[in-house]
Amino acid sequence: MAKKYIIANWKMNPSSQEEATRLVKGVLAQALPKNIELIIAPPFIYLDLVKKNLKKEIKLAAQNIGWAERGAFTGEVSGLMLKNIGCDYVIIGHSERRHKIGETDEMINLKLKAAFKTGLNPILAVGEKECSDDIIQILNSQIKSDLNGIDVSEIGRLIIAYEPVWAIGTGVSDTPDHALSSALLIRKIIGNLYTPDFAVDLPVLYGGSVTAENAADFIGQTGINGALVGSASLNIEEFLKIIKSAG
Ligand code: 13P
Repeated sequence: MAKKYIIANWKMNPSSQEEATRLVKGVLAQALPKNIELIIAPPFIYLDLVKKNLKKEIKLAAQNIGWAERGAFTGEVSGLMLKNIGCDYVIIGHSERRHKIGETDEMINLKLKAAFKTGLNPILAVGEKECSDDIIQILNSQIKSDLNGIDVSEIGRLIIAYEPVWAIGTGVSDTPDHALSSALLIRKIIGNLYTPDFAVDLPVLYGGSVTAENAADFIGQTGINGALVGSASLNIEEFLKIIKSAG
């Protein structure tokens, strides 16, 4: 059975250590289907707590990374710090960082380079802002700029998440057909930049209002390798259903 990724992006939640502990313990309540790579992405401040409570087969991701290695960068967290605290993955280029915080493709490119250099697996988020946007132009531009100067030998550990901004946190998900065609477009862009074989093997995920009801429709597609889940990952019962439906 093909491997599927389920990533819980807690965003800026929850607001206490007790609640974070409750969420992790809740996830452990159910046996993990064999084909699932389950990844939890809590805020920086809970990384250690989550890591200590997780079983070995569940992986840890950061939601962001500083591009510098060390030094005078107040408020930043380096790739080495993330690696040393137990992260295997890092989300880079999430639309909330692009559009609410002003992260540019140049910054995202530096962050991707920092992640590869430290041995972290980056989960690069891309997607158009409005339903009516020119998705071919936007995905081409984001992916080409974000991966600029990154060699194919390094990018073997890349994951791309297609997250249309209009579907994030709105309760209006993309259709499975459109998400699949976007995933194919992403593979085409990657195939042109690197090699067709690499594009076929690249994990491409869908994110945007994934729920227990619709998760299987996305994850069940052969060309979609999993889901990046936001608000539904904060509801244990619902998140366990999503994991089950992917198994
Ligand atoms: P929602 O699942 O809350 O729409 O968020 C999706 C997302 O941004 C995951 O990174």
